[in-house]
Amino acid sequence: MNRKGQIVKRSFLLVVMFVLVMVAAVNAGGLITNVDNRDITELDGIWNIIVDPFENGFYDYRYKEYSWGFFKDAKPRNEYEMVEYSFDDSETLQVPGDWNSQKEKLFFYEGNIWYRKKFDYELAEGKRLFVYFGAVNYEAVVYLNGSKLGVHTGGYTPFVFEITDKVRKGNNTLVLKVDNTRQHNAIPTVMSDWWNYGGITRRVLLIEEAGTFVRDYKIQLAKGSQKNIDGWVQLDGAKAEQEVTVSIPEAGVSKSFTTNEKGYAKFNFDANLELWEPGSPKLYKVVVKCGTDTIEDKIGFRSLEVKGSDILLNGKSVFLRGICIHEEAPLRHGRAYLKEDAEVLLGWAKDLNCNFVRLAHYPHNEFMTRTADEMGILVWSEIPLYWTIQWENKEVYNNAVKMLDEMVARDKNKASIILWSVSNETPVSEPRTKFLGSLADYTRELDPTRLVTAAMEKHTRGNNVEIADPLGEYLDVLGCNEYIGWYEGDNFGKQWVTPYDKPLIMSELGGGALQGYHGGERVRWTEEFQDRVYKGQIPMLKNISFLRGVSPWILRDFMSPRRPLPYIQDYYNRKGLISERGIKKQAFYTLQEWYKEKSEE
Ligand code: GCU
Repeated sequence: MNRKGQIVKRSFLLVVMFVLVMVAAVNAGGLITNVDNRDITELDGIWNIIVDPFENGFYDYRYKEYSWGFFKDAKPRNEYEMVEYSFDDSETLQVPGDWNSQKEKLFFYEGNIWYRKKFDYELAEGKRLFVYFGAVNYEAVVYLNGSKLGVHTGGYTPFVFEITDKVRKGNNTLVLKVDNTRQHNAIPTVMSDWWNYGGITRRVLLIEEAGTFVRDYKIQLAKGSQKNIDGWVQLDGAKAEQEVTVSIPEAGVSKSFTTNEKGYAKFNFDANLELWEPGSPKLYKVVVKCGTDTIEDKIGFRSLEVKGSDILLNGKSVFLRGICIHEEAPLRHGRAYLKEDAEVLLGWAKDLNCNFVRLAHYPHNEFMTRTADEMGILVWSEIPLYWTIQWENKEVYNNAVKMLDEMVARDKNKASIILWSVSNETPVSEPRTKFLGSLADYTRELDPTRLVTAAMEKHTRGNNVEIADPLGEYLDVLGCNEYIGWYEGDNFGKQWVTPYDKPLIMSELGGGALQGYHGGERVRWTEEFQDRVYKGQIPMLKNISFLRGVSPWILRDFMSPRRPLPYIQDYYNRKGLISERGIKKQAFYTLQEWYKEKSEE
């Protein structure tokens, strides 16, 4: 090709690349939020699986990623051809749901399992299609019709891929390679006091959208305000610049804005609103509408701030009567993922006279935060930066930021969520405080309307118990885990002090008991022993002047590989106030009584 021809060709390529970049910019990735109010098709149900501990479906015998792996869902075309796997003839698992609780042979399994779902789809001209995963633990490699859509790491936050150009009219094959192997450079790492449930643990949805649609938005009261709504809308699609209307019909408010070339518009307007709070969890219908799409949501509006060692909700001092919860189904084995699971768990918390829950140690499924919004229960939500993290590994920091982004993106419009927590019980060191301090600052920048906290550890100085962790400097609210009466002696009389003029939430305390095992209050594992811990703790807590909340460990017994004691634990952590069969223990009523008094103060 002559020189002129080359220049023309390179110019053409540059133009094509520019257009592609612009389209990509407009289709700014990021989560699609409020999925339950979109045009969704659930891919839940029975999926075929292949257990693949040696990743034989991904690497060839030279350990090279091969092009003809299980994701091709291949079949022999004649009697001569050889294909050494078959999804059609393989066993199955229920999705959503962890694999550990579905098959005895997978109870302790850590490794790779391939999932396959076939589906037909008729996508109308001009429409777009996405595949959305509520969560997959821990790493997911996702394929559609044999081509890789992408990879997601992190077991507790949602992610989405566009499949508009890859979906076929009939007979689509969605394949995932799921790996829950614990890693030293993962979040959490190889150490956790909960079961490493693997699999597609939350819903899989197809989401159909218009060519240009409302992908995401934030609509909340501005920090410290009780009537100024501060927010933004993000459109996605070629018609990026449009007029968008945000309306709250019941409040008689409707405001219009024009999005920029990236489909983005910030806005700010006043509204007279009934404020959301426990006891009166008012949710408004909010409508976000543009020329090509309309989406409705239910959003509560409340103000939240810290004043010295006080927490103010809608300008009034609030005491958080809480309990910790792991994401385990209330009355069956394995991960919780149903709306009904959320209603039972949060119903138990209400029964305990709680107005607050700490969703430990990772973001729970969206039914939990939606139900907390509906029931008027305040929420502490956290990412699993737990115990032993590689603080000096930049990739780990970037992974933590991504998990935070995904947690905040999904739940940023949930009035119930008041606290984002960046860690749990991490030993003090310079790299750790640098890592978490930076993450705390990032969280506050990402969402200035909520409070940043962390569950730290206490330190004893003589007859004082001190909360002086340098991380406290970066937090709005101090969190502290302590087990006086269980792991350490009965020094309930110690004086609690802190150099910070900030509110404290005692984010863990308690002790274990096997439900139904009774004896003297100094007989370990009896309900009386556990109750004695609470009876010792409560007067001590009442004595802490800067205490503004408590979330004892934990609502319900839960599974952990760290708790093997036969006949007592049998791989359950027994610090629940309720057993795994839903039976309340003696200590439940002790805490319930104190919270009732607190609620009447
Ligand atoms: C720690 C930790 C929990 C754990 C609990 C326990 O505080 O945060 O995840 O389960 O103690 O020892 O039971």
